[in-house]
Amino acid sequence: MEKIDTLRRFGLFDARVPRYTSYPPANHFANGIGHQFHADWLQTVTDGSVISVYIHIPFCKRLCWFCACRTQGTRTMRPVDAYVQYLLKELSLVRDLLPKDVKMGRLHLGGGTPSILPPDTMANLLDAVYAAFPKADDYEFSVEIDPTEAAPDLLRTLANYGMNRASVGVQDFAEKVQSAIGRLQSFEQTRDVIALLRDLGVQSLNVDLLYGLPFQTKSSFQATLDQVAELKPDRLAIYGYAHVPWMSKRQVMIDGEALPGPEKRFWLAEQAHAHFTALGYAPIGIDHFALPTDSLYKADQAGTLRRNFQGYTDDQSEALIGLGASAISRFPQGFVHNAPATSAYQERIASGGLAGQKGYRMDHADDLTSQIVEDLMCRFCFDATSLGADFPDMAEIIEDTRLSLLDAFPGIFLTSADGLIILDNAKPLVRIIASFVDSFTSSQTAHSAAI
Ligand SMILES: C[S@@+](CC[C@H](N)C(=O)[O-])C[C@H]1O[C@@H](n2cnc3c(N)ncnc32)[C@H](O)[C@@H]1O
Ligand code: SF4
Repeated sequence: MEKIDTLRRFGLFDARVPRYTSYPPANHFANGIGHQFHADWLQTVTDGSVISVYIHIPFCKRLCWFCACRTQGTRTMRPVDAYVQYLLKELSLVRDLLPKDVKMGRLHLGGGTPSILPPDTMANLLDAVYAAFPKADDYEFSVEIDPTEAAPDLLRTLANYGMNRASVGVQDFAEKVQSAIGRLQSFEQTRDVIALLRDLGVQSLNVDLLYGLPFQTKSSFQATLDQVAELKPDRLAIYGYAHVPWMSKRQVMIDGEALPGPEKRFWLAEQAHAHFTALGYAPIGIDHFALPTDSLYKADQAGTLRRNFQGYTDDQSEALIGLGASAISRFPQGFVHNAPATSAYQERIASGGLAGQKGYRMDHADDLTSQIVEDLMCRFCFDATSLGADFPDMAEIIEDTRLSLLDAFPGIFLTSADGLIILDNAKPLVRIIASFVDSFTSSQTAHSAAI
């Protein structure tokens, strides 16, 4: 049977499933309990351990219609400067609760548009972050950069403060597509920002692309892929456009009639896959590509790839500390989600408390499911041997799950001495397979299309 028939048979073109950047997915975090856990879990991070820090900047000068990220438009810097004052206060609260000797292995600035910050505001913020957390060995500092909002002075400031990785948003270079998604950005502008980032010493550069956008055709997408190849990124994230206007209201500006259907989306994804693998990039997980020189490729080869809110990562830290509106922290015990709206976040910090609003405490069964989901999403496998070693008291559940997977997805797995491996042709089904082991019953419409 052809690959596409198999994928259709198992529901790829109809299903709506989570992207599993966490297990459980963030829509299952419960309201009102975040702050209850927040302080306790910060205090129980292992002293001397290496943590990761994520800082969310929820502002953009333009609001692209396609964007599902937590952000808001602003024309002036006044709300941005005010917000940074709250970030500084939250940083100090969090620092006081964490054990004395934690070090920072990773710092990631995401958004929104972190590059919207004026250089002196950025410098103040970074001074405070470094005063709070000394850098660990092999420290990495990454920033999401919108090339249309990336002043050279700001990029220089970031480089002076150690930025060594950057992620540049492209989405698509075709003018017709850009007009339909409310995001105009020229190839030349993007190329110049990337050249400056390289000059400033950024070693690992990622580019974000989207397939499934309005008016994307095979030939228009090929032109974008060719232009992106010229930029020689170390990594790429090629996401399927999630059209979720019920969650992201600005997407009502996008003409649903102009969107490619599920099978056309599939062929666009296949086209990008063929293009970049032919150029020597290795596919990583469901939607990333990396050159063999990049650390994501090395983690994939070593079997240590992880999945977190930024997608795929080689970050192995015990705790991820999220700062800012809507930022999520991950602890061994579970998740804490800061108040999503900027105003609610600021109110919480102003009142002297932590910003956690929603949360989730993992139990032992969640830990097992989380490991199964991460193995599927990162390694396309169900590794019964290593699951059995990590969860010896759950051997029966692990075996039952293995048998149920084989039963539910006949012809999709290769069986090995250690468990099950998803066949190459069936890899696009991995989110559907992960949703099969997900013990939360999810509403179909709450999620994005499986392809
Ligand atoms: C915070 S955003 C962009 C960073 C930066 N502000 C920029 O515009 O370049 C990070 C990435 O999320 C992805 N993204 C945003 N909305 C999406 C959607 N509706 N579906 C899939 N991916 C989306 C885009 O690829 C985007 O580059
Ligand atoms: S894509 Fe970037 S610039 Fe556009 S709205 Fe989203 S976060 Fe802002």
